[in-house]
Amino acid sequence: MSYVARGLFITLEGGEGSGKSTQAKKLLATIESLGHEVIVTREPGGSPGAEAIRSLLVTGDADRWDGMTEALLLFAARKDHVERTIRPALEAGRIVICDRFTDSTMAYQGYGHDLGRETVEKLNGLVLDGFEPDLTLILDMPPEEGLKRAVSRGGAEQRYEDMDVAFHHRLREGFLDITKRAPSRCRVIDAIGSEDEVASRLQEFVLPVIGSWYG
Ligand SMILES: Nc1ncnc2c1ncn2[C@@H]1O[C@H](COP(=O)(O)OP(=O)(O)OP(=O)(O)O)[C@@H](O)[C@H]1O
Ligand SMILES: [Mg+2]
Repeated sequence: MSYVARGLFITLEGGEGSGKSTQAKKLLATIESLGHEVIVTREPGGSPGAEAIRSLLVTGDADRWDGMTEALLLFAARKDHVERTIRPALEAGRIVICDRFTDSTMAYQGYGHDLGRETVEKLNGLVLDGFEPDLTLILDMPPEEGLKRAVSRGGAEQRYEDMDVAFHHRLREGFLDITKRAPSRCRVIDAIGSEDEVASRLQEFVLPVIGSWYG
């Protein structure tokens, strides 16, 4: 394989229960089987400090934080995650698959909670200084379907699932608007169908990109 200066940074985005974590694992296995070095990580979290912040975000009452406080916690976690986990892996030439990243903050706090896209963009510029994914896959489905999946999965981390359905619709529209504004980075993937069907839609798009990145 030829020398590559930097690995490929792929993010998976979308609403609650759209299959991000399921598909991250499947994509990891597929990419590994092709002989690439790849890691999966997630947000909020992905480094010890960021995982500690995660528990403040995903448990407790739905109105536990105001939008700005929540965005600051998310960016604090993200900064730690980027410096300690993501950037070192990319610098070693690895592919990094991240389950949620800045686009989730844009969708949830920017569009969902009315903090506004400009405020989230400003925070992003300040904290991450332009660092962004090379490729973002947005798993799209009606929010009611995703919430059904997430509820049947259960678990204690349900703070976002507890927000009202109108919020989840704003979230979906937010992700679609993010894609419109960054069409060369983002790709919307239909998340309805079996796990394998969705996985092959993702592969169809990602594998050629990996081929040309490491070609
Ligand atoms: N294509 C699919 N069809 C049916 N069920 C699915 C599919 N993909 C995932 N699931 C199931 O739906 C639930 C939610 O999936 P998953 O945890 O991957 O979603 P997620 O997008 O990571 O959710 P969250 O936003 O809450 O982290 C899980 O129980 C999972 O097993
Ligand atoms: Mg998940």
